Amino acid sequence: MSLFKKRQTLVPEEYLPQNVGIIMDGNGRWAKKRGLPRTAGHVTGAKVFRKIAKYCDRRGIKVLTVYAFSTENWKRPQAEIDSIMNLLRDYLKESLSDFKHENICTRFIGDRTQLAEDIQALMAEAEESTAEKTGMILNIAINYGGRAEIVNAVRSMMSEGISPEDVTEQTLEQHLYTAGQPEVDLILRPSGEYRLSNYLIWQCAYAEYVFMDVLWPDFTEKDLEKAFTEYARRNRRFGGV
Ligand code: FPP
Repeated sequence: MSLFKKRQTLVPEEYLPQNVGIIMDGNGRWAKKRGLPRTAGHVTGAKVFRKIAKYCDRRGIKVLTVYAFSTENWKRPQAEIDSIMNLLRDYLKESLSDFKHENICTRFIGDRTQLAEDIQALMAEAEESTAEKTGMILNIAINYGGRAEIVNAVRSMMSEGISPEDVTEQTLEQHLYTAGQPEVDLILRPSGEYRLSNYLIWQCAYAEYVFMDVLWPDFTEKDLEKAFTEYARRNRRFGGV
């Protein structure tokens, strides 16, 4: 098939989700299947993450949020935690070089105070250096949990002295890590698991969910296009008729 014909089959931009969340799941199983340590799955998963993030920006997605490390992931063996943190370090250093040429605005969501200081400094640098980018917003969820995010928002409102009668859905939203961003349209979870795992629980109230059998390190742009096609077929009613 010619490239032109292939292009014609892509979902037109106006039918694409504006805001996409991805749970990058299946790294461990991918590695196990190959007789490799789980960390090898994360290494390949991190490469796939870079490719998919750049592709989403080129495709016109406005916001992409990836789940890189949850508040529950601290329960994993220390060696695996260290490996994910090292991949994050590599990515952050690279985001200040390679990703610098992309039009992607990088942000981090989650409680960063528990992360190593050098990582926190790199995160701040990556955010600052991409703050003026006009393309896609890339939220990387690190030490993130949806419930913790809501608790954090409530604490912020209380410490600002907002009175109970002034607490609305809008005020709460303004205190989330994702304040000012549109609601999530599509949540994508590869690896054959059918769970949200405490991800963006507020922001996903009306999201469409697409679960796929592919493991994240095997995930391709073609898989993403399949998910976009599935999303475009859905009839979103937001509680109406
Ligand atoms: C879930 O798969 C994956 C993670 C908890 C880590 C995701 C991290 C990366 C893709 C790399 C680092 C990211 C950045 C932004 C540089 P799993 O380990 O739970 O897989 P399993 O369910 O097969 O065990």
